[in-house]
Amino acid sequence: MNPFIKLQNIGIHYPTEDGDIWALRSIDLDIEKGENIFITGPSGAGKSTLFRIISLVEKPTQGAIYVANQDLSSIHQMSEASYRQQIALVPQYPMLLNDRSVLENLLLALQLTGMEIDECIERAENALRTVQLEKFKHSNPLTLSAGEQQRVSLARAISRQPKILLADEPSGNVDPELSKIIFDLLINMTEQNNTTVIISTHDLSLIQTIANTKNKKFRHIKLDKGNLQNDSFITPK
Ligand SMILES: Nc1ncnc2c1ncn2[C@@H]1O[C@H](COP(=O)(O)OP(=O)(O)O)[C@@H](O)[C@H]1O
Ligand SMILES: [Mg+2]
Repeated sequence: MNPFIKLQNIGIHYPTEDGDIWALRSIDLDIEKGENIFITGPSGAGKSTLFRIISLVEKPTQGAIYVANQDLSSIHQMSEASYRQQIALVPQYPMLLNDRSVLENLLLALQLTGMEIDECIERAENALRTVQLEKFKHSNPLTLSAGEQQRVSLARAISRQPKILLADEPSGNVDPELSKIIFDLLINMTEQNNTTVIISTHDLSLIQTIANTKNKKFRHIKLDKGNLQNDSFITPK
């Protein structure tokens, strides 16, 4: 059987003054449904670019992506829209609407699905409770710290109950204690809802700590200069 997500020979380049930069080069990657994957790599390795490609924010220069056997480069608009509803990207830098409250930021994304407003509110409030930010629901995102804004962005993603969740350096702006809570929450999404969760981080030691405390092994993919370095497991010690 084919994997849930299949990246085949994915490459993308950006033209710059010094010539083309290949942000990703010939990436082949198979991801099964309900997997928890960590992607590590130094700054500039291509982690964010990979997430933007999987979530259809950008189209690759070469290669193909298949999700549930569907070639994303050739799907028609209806299927593309339904794919977008199943996937949530938590970007490295939160992109919140600063003229709306925290709660409204979540509701806007939920209402796009055509869901009843009462259910939207319930899901949004539950998600804010999960990231421990319910007390800020009527606040303007600009009044929140960078770490809190990142958690709002995460709450917005989890409230949509996506099938695939991509979290780009979710612990970038938060202290170690909170980053453990965030990683736990992401891993629970797989355990409870079979969500396929892919997390990028430069903090390898944090993954080891999670593997140890959960007594669970995690798939680990390393990127460097746009190349997939290796595919291994981080096992509990
Ligand atoms: N829109 C863009 N225009 C030009 N170069 C880009 C663009 N996006 C990413 N890059 C380059 O692609 C490479 C990978 O970037 P990125 O995916 O952000 O890496 P990471 O998230 O691992 O830090 C870097 O060299 C970066 O400068
Ligand atoms: Mg990045």
